[in-house]
Amino acid sequence: MSGNSVWWKEAIVYQVYPKSFYDSDGDGIGDLPGIIAKLDVLQQLGVDVIWLNPVYVSPEVDNGYDISDYQAINPKFGTMADFEHLLAEAHRRGLRVIMDLVVNHTSDQHEWFHESRTTRENAYRDYFIWRDPVNGREPNNWAGHFTQSAWSFDDATGQYYLHIFSPQQPDLNWENPAVRQEVQRIMAWWLAKGIDGFRLDAINLIAKAPGLPDNRGDGRYIFSIENFCNQPRFHDYLREMNHAVLAQQDVLTVGECAALTVDDAIAVSAPDRHELNMAFLFEHTDYYNTVGKDPQKLKEILTRWQVGLHGRGWVGLAFNNHDQPRVVSCFGDDTRYREESAKLFATLLLTLEGTPFLFQGEEIGMTNAVYATIEEYNDVGTVNLYREQVAAGADPQVVFERVRATSRDRGRSPYQWDGSADAGFTTGIPWIGVNPNHVAVNLQENLDDPDSIFHYYRRMIALRKATPALVYGRFEAVPAPDALFVYRRIGDEGSCLVVLNLSEESVEFAAEGTLLIGTHAQPEKNRLQPYEARVYRE
Ligand code: NOJ
Repeated sequence: MSGNSVWWKEAIVYQVYPKSFYDSDGDGIGDLPGIIAKLDVLQQLGVDVIWLNPVYVSPEVDNGYDISDYQAINPKFGTMADFEHLLAEAHRRGLRVIMDLVVNHTSDQHEWFHESRTTRENAYRDYFIWRDPVNGREPNNWAGHFTQSAWSFDDATGQYYLHIFSPQQPDLNWENPAVRQEVQRIMAWWLAKGIDGFRLDAINLIAKAPGLPDNRGDGRYIFSIENFCNQPRFHDYLREMNHAVLAQQDVLTVGECAALTVDDAIAVSAPDRHELNMAFLFEHTDYYNTVGKDPQKLKEILTRWQVGLHGRGWVGLAFNNHDQPRVVSCFGDDTRYREESAKLFATLLLTLEGTPFLFQGEEIGMTNAVYATIEEYNDVGTVNLYREQVAAGADPQVVFERVRATSRDRGRSPYQWDGSADAGFTTGIPWIGVNPNHVAVNLQENLDDPDSIFHYYRRMIALRKATPALVYGRFEAVPAPDALFVYRRIGDEGSCLVVLNLSEESVEFAAEGTLLIGTHAQPEKNRLQPYEARVYRE
């Protein structure tokens, strides 16, 4: 093992979206006892860390990303005793657990906000960002993520409050030291319970540009991150948090940081900066989820990050999460080549530098969910956009097609445990529809078939763990035909060659070495089949 080995660089993280994982009590909603019941299969897969999407008390306007009590468990998911049981059962199996820390904003039902909105002068007023109207309108032209304006007017005190996300998610005022201390206190409280780290939600939005200036451009509601993303004070706040809470702890911290460049990621994750362990890389998913499938661009982005970050910083790598479509549906081929393309992305994820994060269901090749009516959708972004555009006079069918093509619910459908009714997820009515393809795409089928996607992930995870070069090695791109992504990971103990065919064509390529793993049973020496992936030892 490398001289500088670090557990969270070697770890493989599995993201559990509790609401859709496993329902133990038949109310149609996944829960904490449901996660406990399925820990063995995560252990079998070989992952090391579970990231739990928010399980705190919440009105669930944004599925738990609107927290009304940071120190209590949402009764729909269970109790604090269930949480402690989950932690103990996970630890007993050698699995660590990290929590989602959502502190750019709270819920409007949090007691801080209740207090804050009562009068202009109270101890909590300054916990949030309140401003007077300007010319009878919003204080600036910022648009929100889930609404037209990032401001809502509150009649009680005659001021607007800022919410980068929905109106039910008021932004905390991090300029107020009392807010920062509250956050540090909450973090220390969870760490004292024995959790193993945090995924920090929307963390590079916590600092807003001084004076809250207008975004550039004409018009009222301009969506741009220029004034609330990666502001210099963001780093000051992280360093303060690190010093106050994290410095003495050997925990995993990963920042969800939008619009990050390689240099920004280094600024967050370089060890001598004392901020976080890593930030998520999103440039690749942002590209293919919005612009489209382009192997050249994927190669260019990943190569730039691999080369730029080596020895300087660290990232969390993912191709799927609860905010994104399934990669097998949008970059792979979720019909003819579903198995092959799912295995190819497993190979890519587990052979790059950066801590790999799997999202529940990718290890069995789950595909995007599609629903027939707007009523079947839950995502606050989808529903708000639909309502706003229809209210503005647009054709409901046209708007529906548009919003469902981007809905985050595509990746949030319940986990497909088996081929029975509702995929074995619940005995009740699932909170969101189960993908009808669960009859064929499910864990049970995967477990029974030694060549399944699940077993491929399991073998690929084991290979990564046994091969320090795949964790710590230097990345080197190898010239190859356009459809292929070929690279080396060069470690102290030797190097690996990774060959991936990102296309639906068969492509000629001669690779040398000892084949360690491959997606196809009978690989041809000088040719790769559609979505074929191989890893060689050189
Ligand atoms: C990012 C989370 O991943 C997403 O689900 C949520 O809606 C926003 N942050 C707001 O918390």
